[in-house]
Amino acid sequence: MTNNGCLEQAAVVASETSGRNPIPGSVSGDFFGINANICQPLMHPLNPSNTCTFAGHMYTVLITGGTGMIGTALSRRLLNEGYNVIILSRNPKETAASHSLGAERNFFRSSGNLFYSKWDVKRMSIDPTALAEADFIIHLAGAGVAAQRWSEARKREILESRTRSSELLLKALKEQPNKVKAVISASAIGFYGPDKGTPFTEEDTSANDFLGTTCQHWEQSIDPVSALNKRLVKMRLGIVLANEGGALKEFKKPLRMGVAAILGNGNQMVSWVHIDDICRAFIHAMEQETMQGVFNLTAPSPVSNRNLTLTLARNVNGSLFIPLKVPSFVLKAILGEMSIEVLKSATVSSRKIQAAGFQFQYPDIDQALTHLSN
Ligand SMILES: NC(=O)c1ccc[n+]([C@@H]2O[C@H](COP(=O)([O-])OP(=O)(O)OC[C@H]3O[C@@H](n4cnc5c(N)ncnc54)[C@H](OP(=O)(O)O)[C@@H]3O)[C@@H](O)[C@H]2O)c1
Repeated sequence: MTNNGCLEQAAVVASETSGRNPIPGSVSGDFFGINANICQPLMHPLNPSNTCTFAGHMYTVLITGGTGMIGTALSRRLLNEGYNVIILSRNPKETAASHSLGAERNFFRSSGNLFYSKWDVKRMSIDPTALAEADFIIHLAGAGVAAQRWSEARKREILESRTRSSELLLKALKEQPNKVKAVISASAIGFYGPDKGTPFTEEDTSANDFLGTTCQHWEQSIDPVSALNKRLVKMRLGIVLANEGGALKEFKKPLRMGVAAILGNGNQMVSWVHIDDICRAFIHAMEQETMQGVFNLTAPSPVSNRNLTLTLARNVNGSLFIPLKVPSFVLKAILGEMSIEVLKSATVSSRKIQAAGFQFQYPDIDQALTHLSN
């Protein structure tokens, strides 16, 4: 290995799986038991002594949990903009073979390159070459909050998958040579409690419930990054609307039977955000060197659950749907403790991120759902 921080090994190139020619400056090898392209270091033409760009390209972004719904969309956008992307996964071998990005690889501009790399949060190990290559880290990893009922064991996994993965990143950043400029870490508006009369701002304190304390610990776990002289941005994400999964997919399910399922009394406010704005905002945070600290990432116009449900129903089913209220006690029976979040009214302000120069492409729900329905 050279000492200039270039990724020389253990980068799993998606082009291998999609049958595309390897990128210039790479050779094939066997890593993690699979065929992979191994990138040879290329010197930056302007500063050959100490600067290395990956295959001659611009910045490299390491994304933890990059195989998930947001990470996949974000990787696609970064690649289209010419960044290199390294997805850090617990199972890079399986992911490299099956990830939708691999299959879509040919749509990317040739200036971008996608790699998969391994970490093991339980064993606290991380591929050092992936870290050495990264200019930015986007930290998204964590066990799905809504994927299962919240048993005590599941709650522990939701919390620890986030705090321990932050600890692993910190340990690696402290102990391993790296050139990381900034870490952009996800958090969630579950940080806040139920509405209090005025929209939640970044200065409000966390709720005492499970999600509130989880988000608080999650954010605290990544804070020591700042002491390493790296810029840290923490994004409190709203309910992400995307066709690939998450809340929208769940909202759409009853519509297949012509039912617009309004949850509880439907008056609770939902602070949502379009997936494209999530990706744009993460890139904005990477590129704006003045941005640091906590930012809410929710569209400027939260809507009631009823409004969201009926707007979606009109988009998907035209006039062919029946609005139906799902009573709170039914939701509690189905979802258990998680029903608190579904029924909670959360009006969150996006003023701070807008003041930081971010412009939402989808500020209102009609626009967002129309776009997602097309
Ligand atoms: N989607 C939303 O509406 C929303 C709202 C607020 C906040 N967020 C937060 O934003 C982040 C990304 O969201 P997403 O919707 O893209 O999530 P996702 O689809 O569930 O993806 C999360 C990724 O984290 C990794 N992961 C899962 N369990 C893990 C564990 N026990 N230890 C370490 N890594 C684990 C997985 O990658 P590998 O299997 O490849 O390791 C997975 O692909 C999450 O932390 C989420 O809580 C999302």
